[in-house]
Amino acid sequence: MSGSRITALGHYQPARVLTNDDLAGLVDTSDEWIRRRTGIATRRIAAPDESVTDLATAAAGKALAASGLQPSDIGLVTVATCTAMDRCPSTAAQVAARLGIPSAVAYDLNNGCAGFTTALAGADHAVRAGAARHALVIGAEKMSDVTDWSDRSTCVLLGDGAGAAVVSADEQAGIGPVAWGSDPTRGNAVRLQGDWHPHFAQEGQTVFRWVTAHLPEIARDACARAGLTPADLAGVVTHQANLRIIEAVVRQLGLSEDTVIATDVVDSGNTSAASVPLALSKLTERREVPAGAPVLLLAFGGGLSWAGQVVACP
Ligand code: ACO
Repeated sequence: MSGSRITALGHYQPARVLTNDDLAGLVDTSDEWIRRRTGIATRRIAAPDESVTDLATAAAGKALAASGLQPSDIGLVTVATCTAMDRCPSTAAQVAARLGIPSAVAYDLNNGCAGFTTALAGADHAVRAGAARHALVIGAEKMSDVTDWSDRSTCVLLGDGAGAAVVSADEQAGIGPVAWGSDPTRGNAVRLQGDWHPHFAQEGQTVFRWVTAHLPEIARDACARAGLTPADLAGVVTHQANLRIIEAVVRQLGLSEDTVIATDVVDSGNTSAASVPLALSKLTERREVPAGAPVLLLAFGGGLSWAGQVVACP
C-alpha cells in the first residue's frame, strides 16, 4: 500500500453546556468581552467523574462503528492528550481494552494542542510502513481539570471533548505529508504550571502574534507538500483556539470563496488536542465538504509546536 486515508470519524462532548453568562457569575467578565475577543459563545464541561478515558472511548467507539471494522482489525491506538491524569496504563491502552481491541500497540502522545495532527502523521507513517493496517487516532481533553476557575483570562477559553479518526491503508495517499516543528524560544508561552494540580497558563498576546505571523506560511507549506495551493482547498480545520486567530490566518491564505472554514470554537471553546478532530467530525457529519475533497488540518500549541497536513475528507 502506498498511502493511508481517514475512513471514518466520531466525536463526543459532555452534556453540560457552560455559557458566557454562567462564567460572568464566577469571574469579572461578560458575554460581550468573551465573544468580541475570542468568538466563543459556549463550551462543554465534563462531569466530575467523567475522565479523559471516558471521553476518548466515546469518540473512538463512534469512529470504529462508522468504519464498519471489527475491534480486532485495529492494529494501533493512539490518544493525543495533555490532560489525562493516568500516566500508566496509558489512556490509549485503556481505550483499547474498553473497545475490545485485542492486540493493538497503544500509546499516548503529548504535543499540546498539536497532538492530534502529530498523532495522525505518526499513524499515517506506521500504516505506510506496514506496521499496522488500521489505526485509531484520538484527541481527547478534559481541560476543565486544569482550569484555574478564578483566572478570567484563561477560564473563559477552555472546554472538554474528544474526536477520533480511523486511518486505514489505501492505494492512494489520503493523508498528505506533514508540516511540523516547534519553536523552543517560546517554549513557555503555553504551559500547564504547578506540580500536583497543574493549571493552564499562557502568554496570550505572544501566542496570538506568533500564530498570525507564522501559521499562514506553515499552511502553505502543508499544501505544497500535498502538491496543492490553498486555493485548491475545500475545507480548512485549524486548531480552534480563538475565532479572531482563525479569521486572521485564513484571510492571508488566498482561499477560494467556496472553502469551508471550521469555526467550532464558537460552540466548543478551546479543547486543545481534541479541537481539530472534533471540528472535522462535525463538518463531515453535516456533509459540508464532499467526500474525497482536500481539507487542511493545522494545529499549534504548547512548545510552541505545530503540525498540519492535507487530508482527503472521509
Ligand atoms: N473578561 C474581561 N476582561 C478580560 C478577560 C475576561 N475574560 N480576560 C482578560 N481581560 C482583560 C485583561 O485583564 C486586560 O485588561 P487591562 O487592559 O485592564 O490590563 C484586557 O482584558 C486585555 O487583555 P489581553 O490579554 O491583552 O486580551 P487579548 O485581546 O490578547 O485576548 C486572548 C486574550 C483571548 C487570550 C488572546 O490573547 C488569544 O487568544 N491569544 C492566543 C491564545 C492561543 O491561541 N492559544 C493557543 C495555544 S493554547 C491552547 O490552545 C490550549
